Amino acid sequence: MRIAIFGSGYVGLVTGACLADGGHHVTCIDVDRTRVDMLRSGGCPIWEPGLEDMIRANTAQGRLNFTDDAAEGLRDARVAFIAVGTPQSPDGSADLTYVDAVARDIGRLTENRLLIANKSTVPVGTAARVQDIVDDALSHRENRPTITVCSNPEFLKEGAAIQDFKHSERIVIGTSCPEDEQTMRDVYKPLNWQHEKILAMDVPSAELTKYAANAMLATKISFMNEIATIAEATGADVEKIRVGIGSDSRIGYPFLYAGAGYGGSCFPKDVAALAHTARTTGCQPRILDAVDAVNVTQKASLFRKLARAVPSLEGATVAVWGLAFKPKTDDVREAPSLDLVRSLIEAGANVRAYDPVAMETFRAALGRQADRVVFTGGNLDALTGADALAICTEWEEFRMFDPDRLASRMRGRVIVDGRNLYDPSRVAEGGFHYISVGRREAEPTVSADAR
Ligand SMILES: NC(=O)c1ccc[n+]([C@@H]2O[C@H](COP(=O)([O-])OP(=O)(O)OC[C@H]3O[C@@H](n4cnc5c(N)ncnc54)[C@H](O)[C@@H]3O)[C@@H](O)[C@H]2O)c1
Repeated sequence: MRIAIFGSGYVGLVTGACLADGGHHVTCIDVDRTRVDMLRSGGCPIWEPGLEDMIRANTAQGRLNFTDDAAEGLRDARVAFIAVGTPQSPDGSADLTYVDAVARDIGRLTENRLLIANKSTVPVGTAARVQDIVDDALSHRENRPTITVCSNPEFLKEGAAIQDFKHSERIVIGTSCPEDEQTMRDVYKPLNWQHEKILAMDVPSAELTKYAANAMLATKISFMNEIATIAEATGADVEKIRVGIGSDSRIGYPFLYAGAGYGGSCFPKDVAALAHTARTTGCQPRILDAVDAVNVTQKASLFRKLARAVPSLEGATVAVWGLAFKPKTDDVREAPSLDLVRSLIEAGANVRAYDPVAMETFRAALGRQADRVVFTGGNLDALTGADALAICTEWEEFRMFDPDRLASRMRGRVIVDGRNLYDPSRVAEGGFHYISVGRREAEPTVSADAR
């Protein structure tokens, strides 16, 4: 089948590469010419494990193409996915500017029967809105091919996006049209062979399922962060609590880690957009508001802990390990590291930052303030002369605690760990003051220099 995909970001590229890998002929369309040129020349604008190789292999086979020309991308396509961004508007709602623009292009340029599958995360009513925009564009044309719209939300997670797309737990298709449902079944046939994964439902339920999924995951994180705060105040250990409740099969282990707050391009904006939908429909999003409020407080907690542990941050040097909002991605959108580094800069601290893959995206996100940060070539390099180390992302390379290597480079003996990577007693025995999340603060039991 010929498939067009609007948007060559995390979702569009993974969808395009995986569907091409499954034998479809896919053209990815993006308005960003630089991005298209890079993809055409074999590069990949985002860091996602396995993606670049898969793009290259399918481009070489002639099944995957890239263009900034929507008419070219739509030629002979039977299905067009919308996978453009839906960022947060100032009032919390999802900004549908990019989705609307794609709908207008499709209505203007499509020559044949087309099914639009909306993969962007969008509020209930967006499929109908896209249909209206398309119909309006068609009304000004002589050739009026049949164009319909379905919802097909995406549940992949960055860092494991290919695995998630190819071996997804469910494929949600929202449509009331049997022909469109069958077309989507044909699209997903290469990925739906082992057992039935397709959940067909009405459009509003499909649109809301995506928000409900992300809101549920964000709720689990904020819940554990609230428990962590209570644990800190009462002398309990959130890691023990995590195992204690995760072992209950009604609760389960995943997503019960306390940390530095959730970030990324989805949870913060999706919680806000769902709350906005609730408010505009006369519902009170009490849980969603609390989830967001806890997260805002949690994201500020690393800085608060550092400010308490380092006598004066002005002029102090702080090493920051991990900039991506989670491991195995270069995405820094809404990352806790951004809040921390901005606060450190405002407090007059010198920041030495390191991340295995996200330094360029972080530099871009920080804008002019990036001049105030020293980006280092390795994690040990970041420690040089540091009064404190702050850990924002649980990359594997940070997981082994080696007090001698840390002590030989750092000036101070403070570690603020937003990911609970180390055993507090071992860090204390290594001569460091260790402040993690939801666990007892550990004071050094020996002088690091005496070891
Ligand atoms: N990133 C994720 O992990 C994830 C997971 C599930 C769902 N989603 C949702 O998927 C959507 C896309 O997210 P993303 O992270 O891939 O976004 P992204 O910002 O990485 O990519 C969006 C791309 O769309 C392009 N674009 C904008 N307007 C366009 C137009 N008119 N025509 C063609 N291309 C256009 C941009 O240039 C950009 O390359 C969002 O709604 C997001 O909430 C994201």
